[in-house]
Amino acid sequence: MDFSAQSNISFIKQKIDDLERMTDQDNPYTRIVFSEKFYEARSWLKNEYQKLGLKASTDEAGNLIGILNSKTDTDKIVIIGSHIDTVPSGGRFDGIAGVVAALCVVKYINENNINLPFNLAIYDYLGEELNDWSISCIGTRGLIGALNEDILSRSNSSGNILKDEIDKIGGNSKSLTKPFSMIKNIVACLELHIEQGKVLEQKKIDIGVVRSIPSISRFSVEVNGQAGHSGTILMDQRADALVTSSEIITFVNKLALRLSKESNQHFVSTIGKINVHPNAAAIIPGKVEMTIDLRASSKSSREQYINELEKQIDAMNQSGSCKIEMRNIAFAPYVEMDKELVKLFKISSDECGFSNIIMDSGAGHDTAHLSRVAPASMIFVPCKDGLSHCPEEYAEISDISKGTAVLFKMVEKLASSSQN
Ligand code: GLV
Ligand code: MN
Ligand code: MN
Repeated sequence: MDFSAQSNISFIKQKIDDLERMTDQDNPYTRIVFSEKFYEARSWLKNEYQKLGLKASTDEAGNLIGILNSKTDTDKIVIIGSHIDTVPSGGRFDGIAGVVAALCVVKYINENNINLPFNLAIYDYLGEELNDWSISCIGTRGLIGALNEDILSRSNSSGNILKDEIDKIGGNSKSLTKPFSMIKNIVACLELHIEQGKVLEQKKIDIGVVRSIPSISRFSVEVNGQAGHSGTILMDQRADALVTSSEIITFVNKLALRLSKESNQHFVSTIGKINVHPNAAAIIPGKVEMTIDLRASSKSSREQYINELEKQIDAMNQSGSCKIEMRNIAFAPYVEMDKELVKLFKISSDECGFSNIIMDSGAGHDTAHLSRVAPASMIFVPCKDGLSHCPEEYAEISDISKGTAVLFKMVEKLASSSQN
C-alpha cells in the first residue's frame, strides 16, 4: 500500500483543484449548500463516483452516495464520508479533504482488485456547515432521525423552506422523522478531516485519532429597541438595540473565557453573526439579531453558561430600555467515538509508520451525529497555522495522502475482522 505514490498524490491534488474552481467567483472559496455552485459540485462528484464504477444515488436526507458493492452478497456497509459544502469564504479542504480521500481509497481498491466482505460507501453528507436555516449537518441529522418538523419548515432569508430544498436535491423530507433502517447494517462510519486547529502542526504529528467531539448549542438572540433619528433623539432618550447587543457580546466573551479556565475541558463561545436593522448611519439601530455558538465538552460548564447568560438577560430586560429574547435553535450533544474504532485507527496509523496522538475535536462533524446510532470514528490531518473557515485554509497534499493511507489500512482491518 503506497498512498505517497505519485499517482495518488496527483489524484488527490487534481480533485481538490477541481472542487476549488466551483466557488462563487467573487468570494472564494464559497460553495453554500443548495447554491448553484453546490449543485455543480454535486454533479461533478456523481460523475467521479461513476468513473470509479460506484453506484450513485441520493438518499432521503439528500446525502450523495457512491457504493462499491461487495462481490459477496451482504447488507453490511462501511461508510467513508465528509462534505463538499463550505461556509461563506470558507476553505478548500474542510470536508473536501475527506471526500477526496474516500475517492482515493476506492481508486486504490479498484486498481488492486480488492474484494471487501462489506459494501463500501462514500457519502457526501448534505449541508454539514451551518447555513441560513440555522442548522448544520442536515444529511446526518436526517439519517439518524434528528430533523423535526420545526427545523424542516424553517425559511431562510430568501424565503426558501428547508424541506423544499431537501426534496429538490433528491431527498424525501416526509420520511425524515425517524432513523433510516440501513443504520443496522453499518459496520463503521469513518471520516478524514483537517484538524482546523494547531495541535498536530505544533507537535509535528501526522495523524490525530479523534476521541470526542464537543456539544454544540446555538441560540438566536433578538434585541428590540426603537429606531429613530440619530441627530435628534438625545443620548438619554434612546433604546439603541446595537448598544445593548454590544453588552451581550462582551458578557458572552468574558463568561466563556472564565468558564474555559474553570473547566479542564474544551469550552468556547462565539457571536459571529449579527444583523443590525435598519443598518443605516443616520438611524439609531432599532433591532438586532445575533447567533450565539457554544461548544462544550463538559455538561456542567454548558449548563452554568446558559444559566448565567439567562440571568444576565433577565436583569437587562428588567433594567434596560430594550427587550431581549433568546431562543435555543440547535443542539448536538457531546459524543465519544467508538472505542474499538479509535484503537483500530491508532493501530492503522502505527502500522503505516505515521506519528499519531489521540485527541479531542474542537469542531463539530457529521461523525458526531452518526456516532449516536452506529460505530463511528474519525482522524485529523494537520492544516497550516490551524486556519480553517477562511480562505487561507491550507493542508499539504502529502499530509492528506498519509491520512488516506490510514483510512485504507482501517478498511483493510475491518475487512479482516469481518471475515473472522
Ligand atoms: C463545523 O464546521 C463546525 O462549525 O464545527
Ligand atoms: Mn467540516
Ligand atoms: Mn466547517
